[in-house]
Amino acid sequence: MTQKPQQKKIKWGIIGLGGIAHKFANDLITIEDAELYAVASRSQEKADEFAQQYGATKAYASYEDLANDPNIEAVYIATPHALHKDNALMCLEKDIAVLGEKPFAMNAQEVDEMIAKAKEKNVLLMEALWTYFLPHYQYVLKELENKTYGNILKIESDFGFTMPYDTDKRLFNKSMGGGSLLDIGIYPIFSSLSTLGMPNSIEAKADFFENGTDSSCDMIFSYDNDIKSYLKSTIKEVTPTEAIFYCENGTIKINREFHIPTTVTIIANGEQRTIDFGYNPDIFGYRYEAVHFNQLLRAGKTESDIMTFDFSKKLIKLLDDVREIINLEY
Ligand SMILES: NC(=O)c1ccc[n+]([C@@H]2O[C@H](COP(=O)([O-])OP(=O)(O)OC[C@H]3O[C@@H](n4cnc5c(N)ncnc54)[C@H](OP(=O)(O)O)[C@@H]3O)[C@@H](O)[C@H]2O)c1
Repeated sequence: MTQKPQQKKIKWGIIGLGGIAHKFANDLITIEDAELYAVASRSQEKADEFAQQYGATKAYASYEDLANDPNIEAVYIATPHALHKDNALMCLEKDIAVLGEKPFAMNAQEVDEMIAKAKEKNVLLMEALWTYFLPHYQYVLKELENKTYGNILKIESDFGFTMPYDTDKRLFNKSMGGGSLLDIGIYPIFSSLSTLGMPNSIEAKADFFENGTDSSCDMIFSYDNDIKSYLKSTIKEVTPTEAIFYCENGTIKINREFHIPTTVTIIANGEQRTIDFGYNPDIFGYRYEAVHFNQLLRAGKTESDIMTFDFSKKLIKLLDDVREIINLEY
C-alpha cells in the first residue's frame, strides 16, 4: 500500500551538493512538515559534510544509492543541466516525487520524456522555477491579470553578471549545458511567458566564448498589436536585472534582482510607490516552491497547478527556439 504522508514530515533527498543545493537546504529545513532526510554527492566526504551541516540522516556517495532508499518521498535535483533528465528519470522510476532545477532539461524532447515517465508512474514532477512562487512575483502577475494599469505594451527584462571565464566551472562547461541562455536567460524568458504567453515570433542574437557557450543573448519576442518583450542574458556585464512591465496606464517594475525576493515599484498617475513584501533575510526564497511541492504531495497531486507541465514545455520550447536562431547546439 502506498504510504500517505499525512501526519509526519515529508522525507526529502537532495542530489548534487553544489551552490544551489546549499541554499535550498537552508530553506527546506525551515519548513515544519519537511525533513531533509538524505543527501547524495559523487563524494562521500562532501555528502557527510553537507549532511552534518543541515542535519540530514543519510549521506550517500552516489545518486543511485539515494534513489534506492525506500524512505525518500521527494527529491530535489541540483546537478548541472545536462544531468537533470537522467537524474529525474532515475528517481521517478523509484516512485520518488521530483522537484527538478531549471532548465528542466536540455531540450523539449528530454522534458517530454520526463513528463511521460511521471505520468506513467503517477508520481509528482515539477520544475523548480522558484520565481513563480515568490509573493512579489505572484503580486505582479495578479496586477497584470486584473489589468490594474491596463494592457501590457512592452516588457524589458534582463539578467546579467560577470564571472571570469573558466571552463572548469559549470557555467562555462559546454557538455553540461553552460552559457548565459539556459542558466539565466531562462528568467527573462519566464517573465514574458508568464505574462504574455507564447510569442508570435522571436528575434535573437548572441555572443560566444571560445568554447562555443554563449556569453550573452539578446532576444525580442513579438506579440499581437506590436507588443514586444526585450529580453537579455549576459555573463560578461552587470546589468540591472529588473523586469519592467510598461502598461497603458502605468509601469510595474520588479526591482533588482527580479527573480529573487525583492521589491516592486509602481509608477502611475504621476506617482511612484515601492512595495516591500517583508521577506525574511534568513531565507533565500526557495522555501515557497518547496512548501507548494509539499502541499501537492500531501494532496496526492502529480502536477503543479502553477508550474504546470504545459508551462514547462513552453519554457523549454522557447529556449530551443532561441538556440536554433543563435545556432547554439549542445
Ligand atoms: N533556482 C536557482 O536559483 C538556481 C540557482 C543556481 C543554479 N540553479 C540550477 O541548479 C543546477 C546546479 O547549479 P549550481 O550553481 O548549484 O551548480 P554547481 O555549484 O556547479 O553544483 C552542481 C553539482 O552537481 C554535481 N555534479 C554532478 N556531475 C557534475 C559534473 N560533471 N560537473 C559538475 N557538477 C556535477 C556536483 O555535486 P556533487 O559533487 O555533490 O556530486 C556539483 O556540486 C543548474 O542546473 C542551475 O541551472 C538554480
